[in-house]
Amino acid sequence: MSTTATAHTNIALIKYWGKKDTRLNLPTTSSLSLTLKQFYTVTTVTPNALADQLILNGEESDTTRTHQFLDVLRGQLGHFSPLTVTSENHVPTSAGLASSASAFAALTGAVTREIGCDLNKVALSRLARRGSGSASRSFYGHFAVWHEGVDDVTSFSESLNAPDMPIALVVAEVSSRVKKVSSSEGMRRALTSPNYHDWLTKSKLQFQDMQSAVMATDIEKIGSIAEDNALSMHALNLTASQKPFTYFTSETQQILAIVQDLRQQGILAFATIDAGPNVKIITTITTAPIVTAALHDALPHIHIETATSGSGINYD
Ligand code: DP6
Repeated sequence: MSTTATAHTNIALIKYWGKKDTRLNLPTTSSLSLTLKQFYTVTTVTPNALADQLILNGEESDTTRTHQFLDVLRGQLGHFSPLTVTSENHVPTSAGLASSASAFAALTGAVTREIGCDLNKVALSRLARRGSGSASRSFYGHFAVWHEGVDDVTSFSESLNAPDMPIALVVAEVSSRVKKVSSSEGMRRALTSPNYHDWLTKSKLQFQDMQSAVMATDIEKIGSIAEDNALSMHALNLTASQKPFTYFTSETQQILAIVQDLRQQGILAFATIDAGPNVKIITTITTAPIVTAALHDALPHIHIETATSGSGINYD
């Protein structure tokens, strides 16, 4: 037998940027995300007689992280036989979106079903957190919150049950020649910023304000809080006392300036940025083509894609 699960990636509008427990992957703040329809991972697991094996986008790969995660699942759920994991990422690397969120969510869903462990999404979100924090939010469609919690049980994600709204995300790929700093390493460095404590306080307030903005379907407010939250996160990286760094390139800055310009013209556009140089612009479905055109005019060589609100995990 085999089981297939599809999970969509998500973009954090209130970011997770720091761990208070690295083994359990407990975050220092609660976070809030929008699941994206156009970017997803399809994962099939099939028992085999030999050893865990991973085939990623048609190629056999040796991802220590996946092997370690399968062992975490065995520790939590009891022993299960070795699995062949076949995963197709429909998260174009060109979009600059992390695929770990959709990948670990799809893997958690497929494995638990395959071994006959019928868990609800809250329980799945706790397990997936151990693979990658952001994966915890990818079981739900539309808007999700990940409660930071204080232990394994209290750190989980749930749906916000938010009303429908015409929100869109314009993803602008920026090429980067600088060596990547992984999310985990970036977070370790950010924690050494003297501003980290203030950031925690601000993030907690923004988490509350963002929930109100989402429930009120106020896309302008959502964008404005998200941009402030993201820029504050990146300021921590710059002010880290150990190995300060930035994910921004000159093109990142250029796009941020275009977004400001658009706003001055009365166009709804706000930026958010994750652990890389790419900029994701929060706007509405009807305004997305205007944002895309402005970016294309200024930077004709960059790849741009628009994403809308997506659904939660599903099984074939
Ligand atoms: C900036 O979930 O990739 O995208 O738990 O170490 O795997 P690990 O980190 P990861 O970090 C995501 C960081 C972020 C913000 C967010 O998605 O909340």
